Amino acid sequence: RDGAVMVTGGAGYIGSHAVLALLDAGWRVVVVDNLVTGFDWAVDPRASLVVANVADDDRVREAIRAHGVTAIMHFAGSVVVPESVSDPLKYYRNNTAASRSLIESAVATGVRHFIFSSTAATYGIPEVVPVREDSAQLPINPYGMSKLMTEHMLRDVAVAHPLNFAALRYFNVAGADPAGRSGQSTAGATHLIKIAAEAATGKRGHVSVFGTDFATRDGTGVRDYIHVSDLAAAHVDALDLLIADSGRSHFLNAGYGRGYSVLEVLDAVDRVTNMKIERRMEGRRAGDPDELISDNRAILAALPWRPQHDDLDRIVTHALAWERKLAERT
Ligand code: UFG
Repeated sequence: RDGAVMVTGGAGYIGSHAVLALLDAGWRVVVVDNLVTGFDWAVDPRASLVVANVADDDRVREAIRAHGVTAIMHFAGSVVVPESVSDPLKYYRNNTAASRSLIESAVATGVRHFIFSSTAATYGIPEVVPVREDSAQLPINPYGMSKLMTEHMLRDVAVAHPLNFAALRYFNVAGADPAGRSGQSTAGATHLIKIAAEAATGKRGHVSVFGTDFATRDGTGVRDYIHVSDLAAAHVDALDLLIADSGRSHFLNAGYGRGYSVLEVLDAVDRVTNMKIERRMEGRRAGDPDELISDNRAILAALPWRPQHDDLDRIVTHALAWERKLAERT
């Protein structure tokens, strides 16, 4: 492996799993993370950690030069959808403006490859499900818009400068490293599987079911849950593709192409734990689509990547194992 990979947000949930996948594939890794939502202990000790904001041009460029960085994987950002509605400028700063700075640093230092954490939230409420990459992107919240703006910047920059990119549009990321080396640690979770895992370990008393009147098989929202380690592996393969064919860039959905309802997820948690976690039927959250499922043919065609953990019980099992580990820690 030539050079090193800079992983921004490498102390966070998805980023820390990407660090593991890169190290396991033989890459040198330098993490840039300001540790606002990430944890230094989440960074594998084989990686270097630079505690800095990705918009700190001096620190970032110094790290790129010092470590011989040839590619950047950009995970750092803010991810809470309702917060993006109440504080949009935070999202345009931490996601859009910070990405602009980082991309400029990449161009200024001659980094040739860029992998960006985009999101299915850029599609808004899709007209056709499964969603294809060429579907209309009409985000319904500032979070999705802040990410879409970064996609546009990358597209334009790749035309003007010798840099290619892959923007991976994540669907619902869940689970944890099967070997127990990392997981989702951030407090104040809003994600269903994380919340259910917290309920299973006694950290909360029940799980709210937000909406039972969606146009789905059981009335609850359907999502395409992807195991975080599969997602991390897709990044490593995407980097190989960017290196092999430096004239092309890619927008790729990252999902399994099938969905589970909220009740199906909670059934899986009950099955795996042999518990009956209390469910409280509540009203819808603002802006939740009925169904969000990826059309994943493009990523399967572009990459050798094949999911290794496409199994709801397995995702839940790994999320629970991590949650138990976290509970011991505190
Ligand atoms: N849900 C519940 N109860 C909960 C939490 C969630 O019923 O306590 C339901 C939601 O209504 C939804 C499903 O579970 O139907 C999944 O909700 P999540 O909050 O886990 O995830 P979202 O689909 O809302 O959002 C995720 C990411 C966003 C991203 C979006 C689209 O969290 O960052 O996918 O890509 F924008």
